[in-house]
Amino acid sequence: MCGIVAYSGKQDCAKLIIEGLKKLEYRGYDSAGISLQKDNKIITLKALGRVDNLEILVNKEKGQCFCAIGHTRWATHGKPCVENSHPHNDCHNQISIVHNGIIENYASLKAELEAKGHIFKSQTDTEVVAHLIEENLKTLDFTHAFCQTIKQIRGAYAICALYVKEPGKIMVAKNQSPMVLGVAKEGVFLASDVPAFLEHTNKAVFLEDGDIAQIEGPFYKIFDAELKEQTRKVNEVNWDFTTAQKGGYAHFMLKEIHEQPQSAQDTLLTLKAGLKDSFGLTKEEAKKIKGIYLVACGTAYHAALCAKYMLEDYAQIPVEVETASEFKYRKIAFCKDWLFIAVSQSGETADTIAAIKNAKAAGLKVMSVCNVLGSTITRLSDITLYTHCGPEISVASTKAFTSQLVVLYSFALNLSFALGHLEKASFDKFYTSLEKLPKLMKQVLVQEEKIKQIAKKIYAKNDFIFLGRNSAYPIALEGALKLKEISYLHAEGFAAGEIKHGPIAVIEEGTPVLALVAKGPLEEKMLSNCQEVKARGAALITISDDMALTDAVQVPFEQEFLFPILSAIVLQFFAYYIAVFRGRDVDRPRNLAKSVTVE
Ligand code: G6P
Repeated sequence: MCGIVAYSGKQDCAKLIIEGLKKLEYRGYDSAGISLQKDNKIITLKALGRVDNLEILVNKEKGQCFCAIGHTRWATHGKPCVENSHPHNDCHNQISIVHNGIIENYASLKAELEAKGHIFKSQTDTEVVAHLIEENLKTLDFTHAFCQTIKQIRGAYAICALYVKEPGKIMVAKNQSPMVLGVAKEGVFLASDVPAFLEHTNKAVFLEDGDIAQIEGPFYKIFDAELKEQTRKVNEVNWDFTTAQKGGYAHFMLKEIHEQPQSAQDTLLTLKAGLKDSFGLTKEEAKKIKGIYLVACGTAYHAALCAKYMLEDYAQIPVEVETASEFKYRKIAFCKDWLFIAVSQSGETADTIAAIKNAKAAGLKVMSVCNVLGSTITRLSDITLYTHCGPEISVASTKAFTSQLVVLYSFALNLSFALGHLEKASFDKFYTSLEKLPKLMKQVLVQEEKIKQIAKKIYAKNDFIFLGRNSAYPIALEGALKLKEISYLHAEGFAAGEIKHGPIAVIEEGTPVLALVAKGPLEEKMLSNCQEVKARGAALITISDDMALTDAVQVPFEQEFLFPILSAIVLQFFAYYIAVFRGRDVDRPRNLAKSVTVE
């Protein structure tokens, strides 16, 4: 995964890079490093662990620097250690490289370079790029040597390179890993994600696969490996940079949980504009859709699972949901008249991108639900429905999840109307309920202290069970995932009707069971399941929208379809406080990265 930040321009930039890297730590935090170009030298500093450790080294450096590249690492090739940290250099420290992705043919390239006398210092795939540029510099200038190198490597990469003899110049290449230029008045930023430079500029140029850019701040040129010039749009990102700060909250996750009414509100407002044109589908196109593939990873996958119930129930259309990592490697008998919907917060998840490409190759129309304007997934899609969450920094996804559901529910209602399964009056009634969501979410948020106190009673337990039925079943999965991600505890979500077929065996005296009891036809069945686990000693905690249930964490009732969204917030708080009580690093859980841009 890894995060890259670089700058060339008129500002003294070591601090800018450090601040930018801190914003990208969600992409990895095994180690961090920086190369500063100054006094005709490249000074490289590296530290294990967090960017804070690197900052200590950078603060000891004297003098100004106007061109630098930085990196925060999520280890793929080579264990986390200083030698394997980026930036990497060639034999004579003339070239400095940061890389996000995987160079697939590094082993054969390394063997060739070693035969030519190159000596490698790390176990990474990245170092090969620095040595290749060095080799190509024997006959070419920096720009051409860089382009030649890009033609020789295979794989996924966003790469930035410095050359000691051309101060102020950064060469960058992108293929399947994100890279965006931040165009400021006095210089140009390069980053894996917009929040890294949002404080300085909101003008973003998203590089496309195959692009190479030459940065000599404040100027930049984009071309391909044959030096054919490319034109890329300058986007104005309307995120407020203060949303990328903690704003008084102990953690980004807690802040983002509290931002959900606002994200839902902003998402609903923009969706309303799209309602008129059926979200980019004409009525005729909508009528031709015979089914939907919904594909995603992680939390976004749970949003997709949840949306299946709504789409099948309201739009009466068959829906297949699958994780992207499975979908992309399966031989699928594609139905040409099915719509493919990808769900992704970042728009850069490698597996989801690969799945989209398969669907496109099969001739399917691709819609995406995404939070990041201009990201790869949005560029690959025929239609994008945006969630308007602003930057989500915490690795554990919260506000993106509920906003994805807002979008998918809104789409389901709209499709159902277009297909004639909902009368206008019913459509309006349901849509009005959906629009009440921000207010209803606030009624859940005010219960934070109550949920915290329950979490306090159970945080020391080691096994947690989450139960739900129907559209609350994916919420049970999501509740368990949240807890696993940030507490490192064993947590499992089950369809409540399934527990008798095995899982009930794990329940013993005091096992916490969090049961999602939604009002409606399955409420009684769910309550029976609650009794079954209670009878076996479970410490039962019910989350319900039925006010008649005492002892429960109550979420407000408006329409059945809103229960998953509202109960998800309760489980986010549970996961958060259990992790806090256990002393975990909530925003930076071990082994995880927010954006998984490698397979
Ligand atoms: C990673 C993150 C998850 C996220 C998943 C999909 O695993 O840790 O929080 O849900 O990727 O990410 P996407 O950006 O595609 O929604």
